[in-house]
Amino acid sequence: MFETVKTAPADPILGLTEAFNQDPNPDKINLSVGVYQDGSGKTPVLPTVKEAERRLLESETTKSYLPMTGDRTYGSLVQKLMFGDGHGIVAEGRGATAHCPGGTGALRVAGDYIHKLHPGSAIWLSDPTWANHPTVFKAAGLEVKTYAYRDPATNGLDFNAMIESLEQVPAGDVVLLHGCCHNPTGIDPTVEQWSQVGELIRRRGVLPLVDFAYQGLADGIDQDAAGLRALVEHVDQLLIASSFSKNFGLYRERTGALTIIGSTAEQAQTVMSQLKLVIRANYSNPPAHGGGIVMTVLQDRELRAKWELEVAEIRDRINGMRHLFVETLKGKGVTRDFSAIIQQRGMFSFSGLTKEQVEELREKHAIYIVGSGRINVAGMNEANMGRLCDAIASVL
Ligand code: LMR
Repeated sequence: MFETVKTAPADPILGLTEAFNQDPNPDKINLSVGVYQDGSGKTPVLPTVKEAERRLLESETTKSYLPMTGDRTYGSLVQKLMFGDGHGIVAEGRGATAHCPGGTGALRVAGDYIHKLHPGSAIWLSDPTWANHPTVFKAAGLEVKTYAYRDPATNGLDFNAMIESLEQVPAGDVVLLHGCCHNPTGIDPTVEQWSQVGELIRRRGVLPLVDFAYQGLADGIDQDAAGLRALVEHVDQLLIASSFSKNFGLYRERTGALTIIGSTAEQAQTVMSQLKLVIRANYSNPPAHGGGIVMTVLQDRELRAKWELEVAEIRDRINGMRHLFVETLKGKGVTRDFSAIIQQRGMFSFSGLTKEQVEELREKHAIYIVGSGRINVAGMNEANMGRLCDAIASVL
């Protein structure tokens, strides 16, 4: 059977990590995959995560299965983190959450659900979007379409074009929105723009799916949820895929969630009953460890406060690197205007580097950047900044 199988192309993001790991150059720089690195280039386990793991190890009494949708407490904590304690959605029980294996797992469950329960619904993704979005939704059998997002002239949001293309989305289709820290551009709509998008979505009868993978990495835990909270002022049915890979550093623990917001609590539970069938046919029930860590931290006042400080440290370091990158490039005599990168948020920005320049950076300088020109600002530090900017100046 296998004689006919041809080698598959490498994944545009994770394939680069494989190549990076094999590169013997001691000065190699990884700005590809969205993984946080501290000032010394390490991806640390957060101290609050370590403490939660210690507590879990002591208190755990069973390895029996979790329910298909995970622990109810986890679901409730996920909702409170997104909407804030006492928000109407939480108080009215209009949210139902399934603990999923990472943000990608949550997106795939959403894709399978849409394909099964809303056949014929296409999904609209921003242009550009995370390279894995089209892959996940096509694998789920959905038709993938795009809406305008970035203005290449300003490296900012082309909001008029975004609205114009969203006006073309037919009722019953799904629109994917990035909750904050847009991947790959780092460009987010303002809260007012979120409101306008919400009004449009409600008027057109479209279902939003919010990919919320970077809460806390832009301006703060609550601040980063402001767009989502503005959206639900207009829209009463939506899906939200959460990830704790970045804000808890739980990458390999595959810790995420899919939340359904219904018009009523009963409706949310009905949709969740369908999601359970999707989950059972997919991975049956979620892995427990990462969810246990998130619950332990969020339920303990002291740990939660410490975790918020840890997230602030990550955010501040990334935002500091944005400034240093732009200043260092200027200092190296680069005349192209990179200043928009300072306004952008989260791990990523579009550098505007071409595919050929990205290749040259990899081949001549052992600097790894995604082919689209997306850079992971969290891979920069004071020690590698000079070499990075010299190399970029040389390929421009
Ligand atoms: C990224 O965009 O680099 C991250 O979300 C990691 C991944 O799975 O691609």
